[in-house]
Amino acid sequence: MGLTPAAASMRGGSEAAKAAARRQGRVPSGRRRQAAALLLALAYAAAMLVVFLGGGGGAMRGRRARAPAAAPPGSVYRSHLVFERLLPDMRAASSSRPGPLMTPHYKKSGKRWVPCISKRLTQSALPPSNGFLIIEANGGLNQQRISICDAVAVASLLNATLVTPAFHLNSVWRDNSGFGDIFDEDHFIETLRKHVRVVKELPETVSVQFDHNISSIPNMRTKAFSSHSYYLEKVLPKLLELGAVRIAPFSNRLANSVPSNINALRCLANYEALRFSEPIRILADNMVDRMTKKSYLTGGKYISVHLRFEQDMVAFSCCIYDGDLKENIAMENARERSWRGKFHRPGRVINPEANRRNGRCPLTPLEVEMLE
Ligand SMILES: *[C@@H]1O[C@H](CO)[C@@H](O)[C@H](O)[C@H]1NC(C)=O
Ligand SMILES: *[C@@H]1O[C@H](CO)[C@@H](O)[C@H](O)[C@H]1NC(C)=O
Repeated sequence: MGLTPAAASMRGGSEAAKAAARRQGRVPSGRRRQAAALLLALAYAAAMLVVFLGGGGGAMRGRRARAPAAAPPGSVYRSHLVFERLLPDMRAASSSRPGPLMTPHYKKSGKRWVPCISKRLTQSALPPSNGFLIIEANGGLNQQRISICDAVAVASLLNATLVTPAFHLNSVWRDNSGFGDIFDEDHFIETLRKHVRVVKELPETVSVQFDHNISSIPNMRTKAFSSHSYYLEKVLPKLLELGAVRIAPFSNRLANSVPSNINALRCLANYEALRFSEPIRILADNMVDRMTKKSYLTGGKYISVHLRFEQDMVAFSCCIYDGDLKENIAMENARERSWRGKFHRPGRVINPEANRRNGRCPLTPLEVEMLE
């Protein structure tokens, strides 16, 4: 399941979100919450009444109030019904393998995943450096990782020397790990050696010009998904003038579409240069080992899923599942708690059915189970 950047940036779970909200004094008082619940209940009752009167009694039975008969397929959560329908097949399949559900229905013939690192990576001598590029990777783990790959690409584009990126200290999960805590820094530098210069920190001669204070290096505020020509036209002159530039925040600052030799560096960074630090690799190996041993019934095969079907995530998605009053209130409260007012701003259109049709709803544990 691909997380949207917004979703990914909410890593830390509802507990952390709650804690953050509490710190900022945002948790509604008990009375206000009661009032909100009462209002919602009233609104719901009124809506039911309208639908009931308009829909003519008996026709309503067994149908969701908010799903008019005309809703296009895929608008309403029905996975529990699909599951009931498939259950006999699944039972049969597990007794007589391989059953109908054990064989993939949509096999992509002839298409295979291929490594994106290509021969486009030339290995001529590195041109002289135009200065130092300092970026701050913000967001969740996956955004930080993509930021690092983008930074390698931008450094190459500008013939700049990249300083190993710092991670933005997120106010929710407050993890102050540095690059070397998460990734193998020497391996990163060594793998990129022939393509991009990378250093662990700004050299003394440059650092002194900025009073040894990263914050006094001018920050180039950059629009999301800026093109490679933006970097050449706007950032390069500053780099040449000052000897160092800083871009913070840096998540999603480089367009997806850039010249293929630049994209190839993103691939090199992601698939070869970025390797987790040793303690993380040891832990991961232990976990994989344990999972393999415990999956002896399936020949050592297992699937590991990060569901992220958590309250804040589901509330943020504005999707409807059971669609009952309890869910409505819980989701509305969760949205107000973490993103006060955001979902009620004028002009904001929330369309849970369109969200579901467009595949923007987090999968429920049941759905993931069926996919497996
Ligand atoms: C970077 O170096 C290459 C190879 O010398 C050169 O062709 C390119 O114009 C340089 N780009 C910048 C921005 O300096
Ligand atoms: C670093 O520079 C920033 C911005 O110029 C300034 O606000 C801050 O106080 C400086 N920090 C130190 C430790 O001098």
